[in-house]
Amino acid sequence: MADKLWGGRFSKSTDKKVDDFNSSIRFDKRMYRQDIKGSIAHATMLGRQGIIPSDDAKKIVDELKNILNDIENGKIEFLIDAEDIHMNIEKILTDRIGDAGKRLHTGRSRNDQVALDIRMYLMDETEEIRKMLIHTLTIICDLAFDHTETIMPGYTHLQKAQPVTFAHHLMAYFEMFKRDEERLRDSIKRTNVMPLGSGALAATTYPLDREFVAGELGFSGVTKNSLDGVSDRDFVIEFASCLSIIMMHLSRFCEELILWSSNEFSFVEMDDAFSTGSSIMPQKKNPDVAELIRGKTGRVYGHLMGLLTTMKGIPLAYNKDMQEDKEPIFDSIDTVKLCLPVFCDMLSTMTVKKDNMLKGSKGGFTNATDVADYLVKKGLPFREAHAVVGKMVAYAILNDKALDEFSEAEFLQFSDIIENDIYDAISMTTCVNDRKIIGGPAKETVLKAIKEAREYIEKL
Ligand code: ARG
Repeated sequence: MADKLWGGRFSKSTDKKVDDFNSSIRFDKRMYRQDIKGSIAHATMLGRQGIIPSDDAKKIVDELKNILNDIENGKIEFLIDAEDIHMNIEKILTDRIGDAGKRLHTGRSRNDQVALDIRMYLMDETEEIRKMLIHTLTIICDLAFDHTETIMPGYTHLQKAQPVTFAHHLMAYFEMFKRDEERLRDSIKRTNVMPLGSGALAATTYPLDREFVAGELGFSGVTKNSLDGVSDRDFVIEFASCLSIIMMHLSRFCEELILWSSNEFSFVEMDDAFSTGSSIMPQKKNPDVAELIRGKTGRVYGHLMGLLTTMKGIPLAYNKDMQEDKEPIFDSIDTVKLCLPVFCDMLSTMTVKKDNMLKGSKGGFTNATDVADYLVKKGLPFREAHAVVGKMVAYAILNDKALDEFSEAEFLQFSDIIENDIYDAISMTTCVNDRKIIGGPAKETVLKAIKEAREYIEKL
């Protein structure tokens, strides 16, 4: 129909339900900035190449800038039956400047246009999320710096294993979020490729200057195959996967914070501003923020799986199925951007209950390995030492005491090579601070790790 940009070959209007069904403007309008930027570069190139009159190119560019302004000032209402952001903007342009506007789409298809827009959009968002991750890394280092002497139990199988420090535990998350930031930077390389010129699928006969457009838009290269240029959504899936991994790390951390906030652990307490109460139980203080972050991880994973599934059976080249890439990736982006800042504030305002952490590290025989190592240093083979300490632990359980609470006489019942120096050798502080090899929890090692981490952040 005449009112559609593609209406020439149609003799009937689109069914109202189909207009609503087909339309993506509800969600793709958020790419208006990228769409306009892309069109400005395309029009400029068309003018330079003499494909359209340079006067027209100038009119297009000027009006696109006005449209951008108007959108930003809330002066524009998008239309459902103009389908998507690409055709909405083209329609506004044409309504305003007539024939010149109608020349903008020369040598271009919405298929390569949408591929361009989504790449630009994801690159912009990647940058935002990178900044949030860098802030998270800083917060973690700051908190770790205050807790290099805060001894806490380390766990395996959620059973107390060996003492570490809270700083060491935090710096484990530094490593995870550091990889997340690195992964984002790496994925950008594959997003940073300019697809315009792919046309609908088979490129174009117009002498487009693709390299010029790429340069104008700050891309580092152009796509090398027109079919792939319009069909590829690997970069969306890769981004969704990066976001899922970020959420996985946040969720693990939150799970620990939830556990540690319980009365049973009492290692931390969330600030009142980051907790909520119960409508019936007056005593309750719930770690809702951490729980919600853990909960929202599910939707981000779901979007990754949704995207993979949407793409798995699509023949080359463009198919409308691919319009379904937007809501999942947009929601994943929104979710991560919602979670990271609130997580940082929750972390930096929580109270760390050092005494309970220390008490926790004393139960559960977390220094048993160190007793064995002590015996090894006195000449016993490790396997024998392991067996001796096993017996000590059985005795300690029966008598309800910790290994460092044994009297000398008690120690001697298990091995006659034990001397008075054992008490110092198996104290929690020694257990932690003797583990000074690279990657260990010793205070000096962790301080060095924090220093290196801060230098790393500076360079990002
Ligand atoms: N809104 C569409 C999308 O997101 C734009 C491309 C439409 N192309 C087409 N030939 N129908 O995928």
